[in-house]
Amino acid sequence: MSGLLKVAILISGRGSNMRALARACAAPDYPAEIVLVLSNRADAAGLDFAREAGLATAIVPHRDFPDRASFDAAMDAEIRKAGAELVCLAGFMRLLDPAFVDAWRDRMLNVHPALLPAFKGLDTHRRALAAGVKIAGCTVHFVRSDMDTGPIVAQAAVPVLPGDTGETLAARILEQEHIIYPMALRLVAEGRVTVEGDRAIVDAAAPDAVLRNPDTGQLANSVAPV
Ligand code: GAR
Repeated sequence: MSGLLKVAILISGRGSNMRALARACAAPDYPAEIVLVLSNRADAAGLDFAREAGLATAIVPHRDFPDRASFDAAMDAEIRKAGAELVCLAGFMRLLDPAFVDAWRDRMLNVHPALLPAFKGLDTHRRALAAGVKIAGCTVHFVRSDMDTGPIVAQAAVPVLPGDTGETLAARILEQEHIIYPMALRLVAEGRVTVEGDRAIVDAAAPDAVLRNPDTGQLANSVAPV
């Protein structure tokens, strides 16, 4: 028994958040380990990194299943076979069946590139720019059935700058995702997060170290661990 929280990461594409989590897990004092990287797409670029990093991978192609429930049941079987205790969605772009979400209630995290509950769904950066917001950001939250909802564990804010495009804003936000996702996973793995109703209550005594990108040491812009 390693004593580390066993985590399955679900991806659909590039997998940069998965890489950030993998880098964090490589640190000797990090309280979680990755037991599976699962993708619904065989061509997800993140799978190459996972294989090269020696992580266990699985592909469950959603197109092979007649409906969402059977697809999610197949993913669930892979996740349990790997011994995972927590699921991290990291750019996993499929809606999940309520039965799957309930089975992993308070044991499934997601990262979303907006300050939820604003700008749920797709195309968040362009919509944020179109709305003229001056502050944007990202959120790590426990997953509930409604898309991009659930108790918020961590958020980071970034300024919207003159001349921003969807791409420049996305890049600025992604940098913060890579900081707060490992941080949020650490907080959960250390048992510092409890869910009360719609809110995640985070132990405010979390040390400064958890506010940093474990890879670069960069501090998160702004975090609300209360
Ligand atoms: C990230 O920006 C993540 O927040 C977003 O997809 C991107 C995946 O990038 N997720 C969502 O929009 C979920 N609603 P990555 O594959 O490089 O981690």
